[in-house]
Amino acid sequence: MKIAIIGVGNLGYSIALGILSQKKEIKCKSLYLTKRHLSSLNHLEKVSVVKLTTDNRRAVKYSDIIILAVQPAQLHEVLEEIKPELNPKKHTLISVATGRKIHEIEVVVGSDVPVIRCMPNTAISVGHSMTCISANGNAKDKVECAQKIFNALGETMLIEEELMQAATVICASGIAFWMRLIRATTQGAIQLGFHSEEAQKLSMHTCLGAASLLIDSQSHPEQEIDKVTTPSGCTIEGLNEMEHQGLSSSIIKGLVTSFEKINQI
Ligand SMILES: NC(=O)c1ccc[n+]([C@@H]2O[C@H](COP(=O)([O-])OP(=O)(O)OC[C@H]3O[C@@H](n4cnc5c(N)ncnc54)[C@H](OP(=O)(O)O)[C@@H]3O)[C@@H](O)[C@H]2O)c1
Repeated sequence: MKIAIIGVGNLGYSIALGILSQKKEIKCKSLYLTKRHLSSLNHLEKVSVVKLTTDNRRAVKYSDIIILAVQPAQLHEVLEEIKPELNPKKHTLISVATGRKIHEIEVVVGSDVPVIRCMPNTAISVGHSMTCISANGNAKDKVECAQKIFNALGETMLIEEELMQAATVICASGIAFWMRLIRATTQGAIQLGFHSEEAQKLSMHTCLGAASLLIDSQSHPEQEIDKVTTPSGCTIEGLNEMEHQGLSSSIIKGLVTSFEKINQI
């Protein structure tokens, strides 16, 4: 694969590091990285496959997978700029711009160009993004390439594009929701006698352990809850009190409110 990342900011840089860490598996022959001010990328200059440039067209010309990682407001301008270099038989566009639909990209570059839309989350910087992927009709056989790239940076799921807004709430905004739950359990642990660093460590690793249990055992959360709720014990008493106070209900309501808001933006 010859890959270009157009707009190597926070996300583009994480994707670049993921690609470089898996360059043999991904079979990355060259990796063009572009941005208008290259100084923050100078340390990558010596990496054999990396080519730094401010010239987006050049990067597109010498690549076949084009990852568009500019801000949503910059996407249209960048698409117009690279359009003359695009060849539908050669190129696949992968956009990570939040909220920008495949159709909006097709309107600029033409519907014959394979277009894939990806929604990673900020955990991509530590290789644990849950990334949702949708593709237009011409890109169906290119989805595997996108999955290879984003599987190097966490997990991927292929979804219908109409679910992309919901996926953005669950996975991208979801990072903030989980952070708040971790903070709340940290505050509880401090009240119960732990110092703040200890409390956060207990909270973070219990959260990681709970998710890992489900991932490894492929069980249902309630099965794991049953294992730790002794009849008349402290866990069920605490859990029921949380539910009386609206734990599940407030989380679901928050997700739905976020979803309603994203659909108005
Ligand atoms: N951050 C995340 O975890 C995350 C998650 C999901 C989706 N997204 C989406 O991913 C995209 C990038 O987000 P980000 O947080 O990485 O933004 P960012 O840090 O602002 O990165 C965008 C980069 O694009 C470069 N750029 C701007 N105009 C350009 C042009 N004409 N040609 C080439 N490069 C150009 C900028 O660098 P110069 O100023 O040097 O050109 C900047 O570093 C956004 O659309 C965002 O919605 C981000």
